[in-house]
Amino acid sequence: MGELLTIDNISVDYGAIRALKSVSMHVNEGDIVCLIGANGAGKSTLLKSIVGLVPLSEGEIKYKGELISSVKHKVSTDNIAKRGIALVPEGRRVFADMTVEENLDMGAFLVKDPAVIAKRKKEMYEFFPILEARKKQKTRSLSGGEQQMMAIARALMSAPTLLLLDEPGLGLAPLIVQEIFRKITLINKENNLTVFLVEQNARMALKNSTEGYVMENGNIVLEAPSKDLLVNEKVKRAYLGS
Ligand SMILES: Nc1ncnc2c1ncn2[C@@H]1O[C@H](COP(=O)(O)OP(=O)(O)O)[C@@H](O)[C@H]1O
Ligand SMILES: [Mg+2]
Repeated sequence: MGELLTIDNISVDYGAIRALKSVSMHVNEGDIVCLIGANGAGKSTLLKSIVGLVPLSEGEIKYKGELISSVKHKVSTDNIAKRGIALVPEGRRVFADMTVEENLDMGAFLVKDPAVIAKRKKEMYEFFPILEARKKQKTRSLSGGEQQMMAIARALMSAPTLLLLDEPGLGLAPLIVQEIFRKITLINKENNLTVFLVEQNARMALKNSTEGYVMENGNIVLEAPSKDLLVNEKVKRAYLGS
């Protein structure tokens, strides 16, 4: 399968802080790729750079072989969404005062045809039955796990080709994290959706992905099939607590 996303030697600076240092990586079509790393490693910055939320100081990013970001050229965040990349940001960022249904409608802001929106919402409710049960409720009344499912469903309402997930397991109980990852794997298989996720929960991320990258201090320090990283001595010591 082809390369969907190509990150070529990118650096990102926040003032005097270099948060990403010549990072290169790629995501192949149909894969679930994970990037693991400690708090502050630069994971969120990498996802933000893909959707055009932070400018590059060096390097370039290509999607489906087309340049979406470089030092001189930047496609707008809206345009990146239109091309089929959706980001579920860290901390979920749901609209707490809106109902579940209204949140899903927001996710389809690029879709004009009401019939398409209705069809996608139906699919989301089939996929996440708990959201159907809660569709008229204000989002703030949902549990953390339900809010994360809603944030994912909202992103899927735009029918993306590439789904970016920023720490989907953050702050959730282990069983709920497992359930979320099970859903992500299912969406990947059933809809042939390519997934790129970043996680501090290394074990969960590596168990549920095909390819893995390890980031430390803005550098990619390891890259291998996830099953190999799970038994890698350095990864075991630093990230798996064994
Ligand atoms: N808006 C910002 N302004 C200044 N520094 C930032 C900003 N966002 C992140 N950083 C710094 O960049 C580094 C990487 O942060 P981040 O990408 O959020 O890491 P992670 O998601 O892996 O926890 C950290 O040192 C962080 O303090
Ligand atoms: Mg982060």
